[in-house]
Amino acid sequence: MKTLHEYVIEAEAKKVAIGHFNISNMEGAWAVSRAAKNLNVPVIIGVSEGERDFLGVAQTRAIVSSIQKELDHPIFLNADHTYSLDRVKEAVDAGFDSVIIDGAKLNAEENLKITKEAVQYAKSKNINILVEGELGYIGQSSKILDAIPEGVFTDVDSLTSAQNAAEFVKETGIDMLAPAVGNIHGMLKGGVDPNLNIKRIAEIRAATGIPLVLHGGSGNSAEDFVQAIEMGIAIVHINTELRVAFRDALKKELQDNPDEVAPYKIMKSPLLAMQKLVEDKLKLFNKL
Ligand code: G3H
Ligand code: ZN
Repeated sequence: MKTLHEYVIEAEAKKVAIGHFNISNMEGAWAVSRAAKNLNVPVIIGVSEGERDFLGVAQTRAIVSSIQKELDHPIFLNADHTYSLDRVKEAVDAGFDSVIIDGAKLNAEENLKITKEAVQYAKSKNINILVEGELGYIGQSSKILDAIPEGVFTDVDSLTSAQNAAEFVKETGIDMLAPAVGNIHGMLKGGVDPNLNIKRIAEIRAATGIPLVLHGGSGNSAEDFVQAIEMGIAIVHINTELRVAFRDALKKELQDNPDEVAPYKIMKSPLLAMQKLVEDKLKLFNKL
């Protein structure tokens, strides 16, 4: 199987993006994996610190590896938003394919320092692991929002600048960068988030020379995704919309079948709802 790095380079060349979907349970793992297999595209499964605490770090690695083997399909595992070096080390040592060191909330100097240290540790243990850094705060929760999260600004002057991004990449040695380009973590009530700044994406890609990752993909329009991918976004993260699909399907299932007690029957429609959503997003990101 090709490495994640090779798939990312290939996606950029084809002007498509690899979908990254967060999971919290086994149903999520199957939903994402089967969707990718059905469409014959690579995919990344992501687990935040909270998600991997719930599933288990080593257990998540084992689950994804075993599904990947069984389906004989490129399914990669990312340690999403990791806030400390200890947790970066834990994910690297557990054999994750990529890790995100998220210093976006720190001051510039601290973000640079922790990101650089994360790269050094990860690469000393696994030359193939990809390390992603974050520059520009876009919030931290994948949930339904009443308003733009506190501390997040989407006006043009508050977005990640191409110059800062280029310096950050050069200093830290990261493989991929997640900038703030109008995107926000979570999704506004009503399901429509602010527009992305496509021009800024193009400027950052040109200035940094490395693949860019779009976080906070829930609530963004199909048109914005298409343009953002065209301009250099190689990976798109989706979480909130997947959580909503799971919650809504589960609620309906319990309402429709109040006497059902078998978890594997109850969980069938939430799994299929997530799979459908992932397939729709993968079609869009991969121009299918
Ligand atoms: O890392 C996770 C993502 O950036 C998800 O963002 O919940 O807005 O889709 P989202
Ligand atoms: Zn994110």
